Order: sequence, then C-alpha cells, then structure tokens
Amino acid sequence: MTQNAALLEDAYKHAMRRVVSPVAVVTFPTAGRPGGLTCTAICSATTQPPTLITCVNRKIPASASMIEAGTFTVNFLKDDQSDIARRFSQVENSEDPFSVGHWSVNAAGAPVLLGAASTFDCMVERIEEVGGHYVFFGAVAAVQSCDGTGLLYRDGFFRRLAIE
Ligand SMILES: Cc1cc2nc3c(=O)[nH]c(=O)nc-3n(C[C@H](O)[C@H](O)[C@H](O)COP(=O)(O)O)c2cc1C
Repeated sequence: MTQNAALLEDAYKHAMRRVVSPVAVVTFPTAGRPGGLTCTAICSATTQPPTLITCVNRKIPASASMIEAGTFTVNFLKDDQSDIARRFSQVENSEDPFSVGHWSVNAAGAPVLLGAASTFDCMVERIEEVGGHYVFFGAVAAVQSCDGTGLLYRDGFFRRLAIE
C-alpha cells in the first residue's frame, strides 16, 4: 500500500535514523581558505574504476564550493574524532574548524586529515540533482588508510563499533 507523501517522508526519516552510518568530513579547496562539512551520505559506487558518491545539501554553501572546486577529499573519521565531526557540522557558527586535528593538503588543494580511518582524494566526475541534494560522483585519485575503528552515527548520537 502507498503511504501519502508527508507520511512517507516522516516514516523514511524515522527509519533512516535507525540506520548506522560511518562519519566523514568532506573537504575541498576554495579561492579563500579551504572548506569542509560532516557527511554520512557517502558510499562506494563501484570499484572499477574506484568511484564513490557523496550527497550534499544544495542549500549549504559547501555544495557550490564543491562544484566550483571540481575536487574533494572524503576523510572517514576514527572513533576518537567525534570532536572533529561536531566542528564540521556547524561550520557557519564555529571558528576555523581545521584548528582541531592535524591536516595536510593534497596536490589539488583539499585538506587531508592525518590519522583518519581512511581518506579518498576524488575528482568530481559527475553531479546529479536529486531533490534537495547534489549527488557528487567522485573518481578516486588517491587513497590512504590506517588502523583504528571508524566513528559511527545513529539516532542522533556518535557511536563506537562493538564486536559481536
Ligand atoms: C552526523 C551528521 C551527518 C551529516 N551528513 C550530511 C550529509 O551527508 N550531507 C549534507 O549535506 N550535510 C550533512 N550534515 C550537515 C552538514 O554537516 C552541515 O549542514 C554543514 O556542516 C553546514 O553547517 P551549517 O549548517 O552550520 O552551515 C550532517 C551533519 C551531521 C551532524
């Protein structure tokens, strides 16, 4: 049975809150200082060639900056880096969010978090407009990863992975 649109949207949000997601900070260069935002809407699209997808709200300035930059880096956080996730989820309000954590800059000018669980440097290959979001397809140009478990998010809280 089809639910009406408003009910379906509420049910969708409610159900999605129950889904566990890895947490990343997506960074990009700009003409001024580089930018970044906390994202959970990220997944691998295909391995041949290595390509990932990230969905960014069209209303926030980061989306226009990413289109202009043509490049971004996905920095998946470790479970001791929730302070960085918080910083990059309120970029308008906070002081320089890059003041937390140790960052380098890749050849394309995007900040790369040292000690992240894994980082993916991407070139924007394609952008689709879907509802309120842009879906960025990133062709992966370089990858780094290190030991340590990733930070998770579910139902409004940052969480850690437990072994069953
Ligand atoms: C856990 C978490 C996950 C988020 N995931 C996304 C996402 O996938 N895409 C997105 O556009 N915004 C996402 N956001 C919101 C952005 O981080 C936020 O809008 C952005 O940093 C701009 O901050 P501002 O609203 O203070 O300008 C997420 C926020 C949090 C806390």
